Amino acid sequence: VRVYKNEDIASKKVAQKIADLIRSKTKAGEKTVLGLATGATPVQVYEELIRMHKEENLSFESVITFNLDEYYPMQPDASQSYVRFMDENLFNHIDIRRENIHIPDGTLEKEDITDYCLNYEKKITEAGGLDLQLLGIGRTGHIGFNEPGSAPNSGTRLVTLDDLTRRDASRDFGGKENVPTKAITMGIGTIFKAHEIILMAWSKKKAPIIKKAVEGEISGEVPATYLQLTDNVEFVLDRAAASEL
Ligand code: GLP
Repeated sequence: VRVYKNEDIASKKVAQKIADLIRSKTKAGEKTVLGLATGATPVQVYEELIRMHKEENLSFESVITFNLDEYYPMQPDASQSYVRFMDENLFNHIDIRRENIHIPDGTLEKEDITDYCLNYEKKITEAGGLDLQLLGIGRTGHIGFNEPGSAPNSGTRLVTLDDLTRRDASRDFGGKENVPTKAITMGIGTIFKAHEIILMAWSKKKAPIIKKAVEGEISGEVPATYLQLTDNVEFVLDRAAASEL
């Protein structure tokens, strides 16, 4: 667990770590495979990466990305889509190749989802596996959209969103009734295969769930507690989110 004074400083540390990874892999002639997250939490990390691209020649030409999740159903051009979020907050501002970007497809026919998800896993493996996975945390303890009840070995799949998660998203959708009931998410097992995992949380609002995730009994009731089972995970927190530890 690493605690920083505020979100600003913590986000810059995480961005620096990502930049160092990209630079060292690029130097070795290797691709960097990043697992990316959406939500308010990683926004400043992405801002700092954009700044480094513009001011410090950080190139994303050899970076391959896999996003954690997407609402289902969801059109990519809808204002709440994670495709749009990633374009606006990162991809449109850097030199990543479009073919290297992967975000679960919210437009699939239901019967195609299982094959699609297996293929998403396959693509991660073929890319060489995730070097680094970024995570936020939902108030249910979800990582990606792995809600309470998710199995530790779960793979990419269609899931049903928790009521609290839909309530938390209601502002973006203009009411809970407009929030999709489902999502496609990488599984806990998918996340676990990453070489390194960074879970970030800022603000007092996240303090109770961070306490459970870091110190609570390991249980499917709080999926983030599964992270206690692996030693390649770092919780990067601001003081407020760490205040109940
Ligand atoms: C959504 C995302 C999660 C994210 C969580 C927290 O549910 N699917 O990946 O971690 O929200 O969001 P925020 O960072 O806005 O608090």
